[in-house]
Amino acid sequence: MDLLNFMLLVGISVCTVKVSQQGPSQRKLYSNLMTGYNPLERPVFNDSQSLTVYFGLSLMQIMDVDEKNQVLTTNIWLQLYWNDYYLQWNPLDYPGVTNVRFPDHLIWKPDILLYNSADERFDATFHTNILVNSSGACSYLPPGIFKSTCYIDVRWFPFDVQRCDLKFGSWTYGGWSLDLKMVEADVTGYIANGEWDLVEVPGRRNERFYECCDEPYPDITFTVVMRRRTLYYGLNLLVPCVLISTLALLVFLLPADSGEKISLGITVLLSLTVFMLLVAEIMPATSDSVPLIAEYFATTMVIVGLSVIATVLVLQYHHHDPDGGKMPKWTRVILLNWCAWFLRMKRPGEDRVRSACHNKTRRSSLTSMDLNASSSISQSTNGHMLYVGVRGLESIHCSTAATSPDSGVLCGRLIGRAGEDELLLPSSQSPSMGYMELELAKILDEVRYIAKRFRDQDEDETVCNEWKFAASVIDRLCLMAFSLFTILCTIGILMSAPNFVEAISKDFFT
Ligand SMILES: *[C@@H]1O[C@H](CO)[C@@H](O)[C@H](O)[C@H]1NC(C)=O
Ligand SMILES: *[C@@H]1O[C@H](CO)[C@@H](O)[C@H](O)[C@H]1NC(C)=O
Repeated sequence: MDLLNFMLLVGISVCTVKVSQQGPSQRKLYSNLMTGYNPLERPVFNDSQSLTVYFGLSLMQIMDVDEKNQVLTTNIWLQLYWNDYYLQWNPLDYPGVTNVRFPDHLIWKPDILLYNSADERFDATFHTNILVNSSGACSYLPPGIFKSTCYIDVRWFPFDVQRCDLKFGSWTYGGWSLDLKMVEADVTGYIANGEWDLVEVPGRRNERFYECCDEPYPDITFTVVMRRRTLYYGLNLLVPCVLISTLALLVFLLPADSGEKISLGITVLLSLTVFMLLVAEIMPATSDSVPLIAEYFATTMVIVGLSVIATVLVLQYHHHDPDGGKMPKWTRVILLNWCAWFLRMKRPGEDRVRSACHNKTRRSSLTSMDLNASSSISQSTNGHMLYVGVRGLESIHCSTAATSPDSGVLCGRLIGRAGEDELLLPSSQSPSMGYMELELAKILDEVRYIAKRFRDQDEDETVCNEWKFAASVIDRLCLMAFSLFTILCTIGILMSAPNFVEAISKDFFT
């Protein structure tokens, strides 16, 4: 205990000894300076002189840029320097005292405020001490989180450069009593922002005249110029949009029979809407200017919407009712001839038809050979043609019935009967001939009917195929046109931003 007390005592005495070296002179100085000092008084030798205040700032951080509420939040240390005529002393009279500090309410200080403040308390500075040296030079460096109104123009979002003014000036003193001089802004302590690149902070001194008086009212305006870094919005909004609009083109590649064309188009449209809502949430609800990205999204949506309409047309062509009639002449000429030629498309059946024609010629030659053979037979053996015909029928019957188990017996019997006919036919020609002819005519009618059905079916099929081909031509045409349109729109709209190239080269390729 004793030891602790002793050590404490020693510590205290060491401290007092250290302070006491300049303590008395500081106390004397404070009391000498404060006697008769009035903080309301403008500290000048001659009241008709103006007091010059040097004003500057050091920008520490851009904390937030609120596009929706048009508020810029910054962390800034203000710099104010002036000379207080009544706070001078001779350093030789007060040894060891080079400077003194005053709380800001004890001495005069200029009432410089941020004019375009959006803060709840208006003056957002933290009131620090004022440092005064022996020649009366006062330096006051109040830090603060400043909220300032700023017109944020989102026309080129997300390739935009914003210029936000910070206007500082004395609230009550005019230019004749308090003159402002600018000190260049200091950005050496600036902490980089993830969203914004600080370009520069130029400042200028303005003089403003009000109606009341001739006195000018000077102010100093610093402009924070910052460029939006595009990587975030590029990855989260632009790339998805470009991808989605590319997907919309696939609608035209999807086969119509899959039945998914419309749903793909609508899905793409919906996902674009979701992204557009995201954009709308960030943007201020202004109709002054349409943001670049909103313009791009709107254009893409129009393209996708048009592609859905085109798809409906394509599907209408593809599933066209064959009874609905043939294609109008001009549609056929334009779509099936010109467009198909232009797009280098061949009708799906074209090659097959050609090969089928080759086969047909061969087959017809065969049949003609058969015919020749049969005619030669009929010429040589007169009246045996009918027999040949019946024989043919029987063989067909046998071959068709060959699947049943007792077909062999049946066939054998039939062939046996046919053998009898072979004997009978040439002898009794005239009565059975009439009967057979009748039967044959009936069969011929049936065959004709079947052939007609097939021909009708074929005709329907060709009409259908024509419509389907027209649908695929429209599909291809739309694919071409929409691809071109999408590429042109993407390049045209995005490239129209003044600093597009700079933004891409700095943000994406560094
Ligand atoms: C103050 O300045 C004005 C003009 O500069 C001068 O006429 C006047 O005599 C000065 N007063 C004193 C007390 O120096
Ligand atoms: C007081 O400060 C001012 C400005 O910082 C400087 O110009 C001046 O030389 C200083 N005076 C003394 C005595 O240090």
